Parts: sequence; structure tokens; C-alpha cells
Amino acid sequence: MDKGNIVTKFYATDKIYLEDRKKLSKKYGKRELWQVIDPWALYVGISNLAIKLSIADLLRSTLDVPGHVAEFGSWRGDNLLFMAKILRIYDPYGSKLVHCFDSFQGLTEFTKKDGISPNKVKGLYGGSYEELLDFISLYKMKSEIVIHKGLIEKTLPKVLEENKALSFSFVYCDTDLYSSTKAILEGLHDRLSKGGLFVFDEWNHEHFHGEGVAVNEFLKEHGHKYKMRHVRNVRQPNLVLEKIEF
Ligand SMILES: C[S@@+](CC[C@H](N)C(=O)[O-])C[C@H]1O[C@@H](n2cnc3c(N)ncnc32)[C@H](O)[C@@H]1O
Repeated sequence: MDKGNIVTKFYATDKIYLEDRKKLSKKYGKRELWQVIDPWALYVGISNLAIKLSIADLLRSTLDVPGHVAEFGSWRGDNLLFMAKILRIYDPYGSKLVHCFDSFQGLTEFTKKDGISPNKVKGLYGGSYEELLDFISLYKMKSEIVIHKGLIEKTLPKVLEENKALSFSFVYCDTDLYSSTKAILEGLHDRLSKGGLFVFDEWNHEHFHGEGVAVNEFLKEHGHKYKMRHVRNVRQPNLVLEKIEF
């Protein structure tokens, strides 16, 4: 058991919940995919539900801010499609697109600042591109989601160079690592509209340090243009930077 951090705080209740749900999985787990997905509120854990509600609240709070939505690190597309579906519900005739940046290779770009041994996690969250395309097709979202496949450190500067007016209102950062988070902040600092949000999944994370280190370095230089906000009631996302000065 980890000591003195957030893992310890939730350890006991998580353990009981995970054991109990394993039992139910054995009892009911052989159902067809959509028989589980359609009544999803029955099956989803409360902390996972809280994550989705928080993201929905944050995204909805930026609907009047000009610019597109982006997610950096989409894996199988859970959060990506969630955000695209929210836009369909609350801004169906608006011009906002959801930009997805991912290599689909999992975690690969490690530095010393990540504070984690690559041997343990190299390739984690990889190999999900085909599945993502299938679900984008199912929901007919090809014209709402733009995929930039490749390393963010390479794709983002190119996209920004080729699209000099491209601006964002909501940027979800979930690559877990230092070098991509640094590239996102340096690249999008001037492209995030006033009132727009950078949202971080792993700031202050007990195992993945890199995202937080990149954010804190960025704030040393640009902190006066942002308001830092805690996200209540969820473990992740755990930091919002609201742009207060353009
Ligand atoms: C934690 S997963 C993202 C989870 C996702 N947001 C969700 O809703 O389930 C991290 C993702 O970041 C991607 N990633 C990590 N570093 C990257 C980099 N330097 N360039 C592009 N993608 C990267 C990985 O391929 C992986 O899909």
C-alpha cells in the first residue's frame, strides 16, 4: 500500500468495491456489449461517473468561449467521444470541432522529469486506433472529430504552422508525460482564447510526475495569465488553468 498520498486515502473503499464488482462480473459479465452499455448508469462506478460529470461541467462552462476543443492523449476515445457527444447535444449547429492528438503507440517519450521507469509502462495505452475509428463511424462523427495521428511533439507544431488562426476554448491534457505536456503548453498558450481552459488529468500525480512538472515550469513564466483551479470531487482531472489574460 502506498503511504501518505491519494492512493492511501481511497485504498480501503477501492479494494472492497473492486472485489465486489469482480463477483458481479462473474455472475452477470457474459452479456452482449450493448445490453451493458445502454443501461450504463446501472453499471458505472460512482467515481467514474463523477469524472464524466466534471468533464461535462467544465466543457459546458466554455461553450460560449470561441475556439475548438482538443484532447491530447485519447487512447480508445472514451473522453474524446464523450466530449464530441456533449457538443452534439449542447451546440449541435455550432462550428466547434474536437481535435484528437495521439500517436496510438501508448507511452513512449520518457524523460528524467517523468520520474518513472520506462520499463514498467512503455507502450501502456497503445494500439487503439482501429477501435476509435469504428466508434467514430458508428456515431457518424467523421466531420466533428479531427485526428492528428503521431507524436504530439511533431504533429502539433506542424498543425499550428499550417493553421495560423486555429484557436481553442477547451484543451484536455491526458498524455501523462513531460515532453508532450510541455509541447502542448508552449504550442497552445497563444492559441487558447480568453476564458478558455487547459484541463490536466495527471497534475500532482503520485506516479506520473512529468505532466505536473511541465505545468509548474510553464506557470513560472506565464502564471500571471491563468487562474489555477482545483476540480472538486474527482481524483482526475485534478487541475484547471483558466486563461484570464490574452
Ligand atoms: C492515459 S491515455 C489517454 C486516456 C484517454 N484520455 C481516455 O479517455 O481514456 C494516454 C494516451 O496518450 C498518448 N500519448 C502519450 N504520449 C504521447 C505523445 N508524445 N504523442 C502522442 N500521443 C501520446 C498515448 O498513446 C495514449 O493513448
